[in-house]
Amino acid sequence: MQNQINQYTIEINNFQPANAAELEAFRIRFLGTKGLIKDLFDQFKAVSPEEKRTLGKGLNEFKQLAEAKYQTLKEQSAIQPEKAGSKDDLTLPGEGFQLGSRHPLSLVRNEIIDIFKRLGFVVAEGPEIEDDWHNFSALNFPEEHPARDMQDTFFISKSLTLNPSPGESKMKGDIALRTHTSSVQVRMMEAGKPPFRAIMPGRVYRNEAISARAHCFFHQVEGLYVDENVSFADLKQTLYHFVLEMYGEGTKVRFRPSYFPFTEPSAEMDVSCSICKGAGCQMCKYSGWVEILGCGMVDPNVLENCGIDSEKYTGFAFGMGIERITNLKYQIRDLRLFSENDVRFLKQFQTEIS
Ligand code: PHE
Repeated sequence: MQNQINQYTIEINNFQPANAAELEAFRIRFLGTKGLIKDLFDQFKAVSPEEKRTLGKGLNEFKQLAEAKYQTLKEQSAIQPEKAGSKDDLTLPGEGFQLGSRHPLSLVRNEIIDIFKRLGFVVAEGPEIEDDWHNFSALNFPEEHPARDMQDTFFISKSLTLNPSPGESKMKGDIALRTHTSSVQVRMMEAGKPPFRAIMPGRVYRNEAISARAHCFFHQVEGLYVDENVSFADLKQTLYHFVLEMYGEGTKVRFRPSYFPFTEPSAEMDVSCSICKGAGCQMCKYSGWVEILGCGMVDPNVLENCGIDSEKYTGFAFGMGIERITNLKYQIRDLRLFSENDVRFLKQFQTEIS
């Protein structure tokens, strides 16, 4: 029996498996329930007491040797599976995977926010479900006035009194999906004291048939600046600065008189077409100019509606559609692309997600 143990000890010491199967065969041969060690212990039961004394220690040591060898080889094969015959090579470099990309509207919205933040504007947000007061009445849209038709509204219910959450004002009048983020300007002015210098990005809804040029929802960034002595010159200079940052030096702007119930005087601002540089193309309908926003001096009625002294304070406001700005920047001609989630379209705006 001692001879057997000696022989097996040499075998175990020299054992080097070529693969996982060989290691498993080793386990079964020595440590298995019908293995050699079990067999040796069975034989051991039959030997004389004197022999037991000399053999016992050696047998136990032999068993420990076999177990230790198996454990070490097993751990090694987990670290270097190729040695144990596994096909996985953990030393290979990892497979690359693609991060998602930002939606073009988010990219442009963030760019607009960054530009205005550098000018000291903060970002304000408000609810997409609005009441008549914040979306229309406070903004100087008279009852039954056709100006309300300028923005085809999705009404939700007539004069629903929603339970306000703490700190929120009660809904006043018909409930609708907001048609512009000017409603956030009202909420901001009602809740605080001038000066205000904020932009309001957000989604807005209008009941329009979906086509390449119109959609039932789109995104806006509106802006509000209220303080003492704010003039139309401030409005022009702020927006001019925005345009140069957004479309680059050399971009021209022009203001055309317009009408909005909440601003007086009101204007629309055009920029020289960034695609054809004013030469005329499909994007600017061969005029060389593209309208990008509405603006004006906040109507004193609006300030008063929000509890602000219109004798003391003046302000300007503006509002632009992010889709329009994006179309111009990336030459996108169909608004529907923004909401169809076609990966082939979205993939073109691959940017690092940070
Ligand atoms: N609220 C206007 C719109 O949605 C845009 C606007 C904002 C115009 C502020 C003037 C001043 O069309």
